[in-house]
Amino acid sequence: MHYIRQCLEPGRILNYRDSILEKSVTLAGNADMAKQAGMVELQLTDQCNLNCFHCHFRNQGDVFFRREWLDLVTDEILPQAVSLAGGGEPTLYPDFDGTVRKLKNGKSAPQIGLITNGVFIPPGSWPSQLSWLRVSLYSVVGGRYAGMPFLMQEKVMDNIVRYMDMDELPMLGVSLLYYKGNVADCVKLSYELYKRIKGVKREIGRFNIQYKRAFVLCDPRRMNEKNHQENLQLLPDRAELAAAASYKEELCMADAGFQEFLDICSNYSQIEDFIHGGMEEAAAQTEPSRITPQNFPHCYAVLESRLITPDGYVYPCPSIAENRDTGLALGHITDKNEVFQKRVLHYYSCGSKWCNRRFCRHFRHNELFQSLLDTGEMPEYGSSIRKDKFF
Ligand SMILES: C[S@@+](CC[C@H](N)C(=O)[O-])C[C@H]1O[C@@H](n2cnc3c(N)ncnc32)[C@H](O)[C@@H]1O
Repeated sequence: MHYIRQCLEPGRILNYRDSILEKSVTLAGNADMAKQAGMVELQLTDQCNLNCFHCHFRNQGDVFFRREWLDLVTDEILPQAVSLAGGGEPTLYPDFDGTVRKLKNGKSAPQIGLITNGVFIPPGSWPSQLSWLRVSLYSVVGGRYAGMPFLMQEKVMDNIVRYMDMDELPMLGVSLLYYKGNVADCVKLSYELYKRIKGVKREIGRFNIQYKRAFVLCDPRRMNEKNHQENLQLLPDRAELAAAASYKEELCMADAGFQEFLDICSNYSQIEDFIHGGMEEAAAQTEPSRITPQNFPHCYAVLESRLITPDGYVYPCPSIAENRDTGLALGHITDKNEVFQKRVLHYYSCGSKWCNRRFCRHFRHNELFQSLLDTGEMPEYGSSIRKDKFF
């Protein structure tokens, strides 16, 4: 199975099977494991060196995760996998090299991944400590690169090539965020990456391109027509997608290796899936008149997943964390197990408006886990499932 499909495969939650089973039985009566979680997305800072129009965290200010709180992550959350990601740009965190090492050498010795905009490569040997690194490469729009002079794109491309050349970095990815008006440009950027990787020694099995659709923030407590229209404005239409597909065909005719590269290294097929059904689903996502009841009984993901924002609040999942409403948090990183226990149980029973098939990004994970409990069999958990601790 393709690396990106493996990464998006909900069956990965089953790598936490034993621990989730234990917590689902004991958590109501015992707070000891309430704060602990296997998979953590840690947002080190809201500061950024870009200014993307589509970013959900734009203008959040320059908050930094306090250094002494890193000990609470390593000693109390005891993660098995940590993704260093936004709000802002993680590589701007002071002593980035020391921070990666501190996390990696923590009690639970987690695997570490990094999502960066690639503008700056901090000094140090931290790349050798990572399991994967993903650079977000953006399109030049209206002569600007992510709110900066357009030449910044070339700098990021050069830095991607520097990462391609790092033997010590196991897996390198590049994500291309697509939205109305830039789909053909994403194809062009893929072609650029294809040409660049031919000039370095990285094998293509250790490289990937992830097409990611941009979406607008949507809060089920406040659905409205304006938000819905913003969503529709961001969605590429059929004609644009068809034009991008024929542009891709043209490039493949000119250089047959490009198709093979896309097949091996990318989830380009997502563009085709989007034409065949995904588009309607994406449009319906923000439809204010649709009512969505709770439609699965338990959130198993909350027993093992956390998102921590730079102000130290700990959330059950990315969908809820994006709102930056501390009233929705499981607790603060400095809080004790008892605070977490109450809130984890609340989300475990799907006690929020995000806990349904429409808003939850983990609902397929939860359904798989429910089916495991109902049938006693490990569903869709073949040899192709990655055995790492990210999900
Ligand atoms: C917010 S950024 C923060 C990390 C880092 N500064 C970067 O640019 O990769 C994290 C990821 O969110 C993605 N992203 C930004 N705006 C988005 C949107 N409107 N919808 C979906 N993903 C988005 C980015 O492409 C990036 O991969």
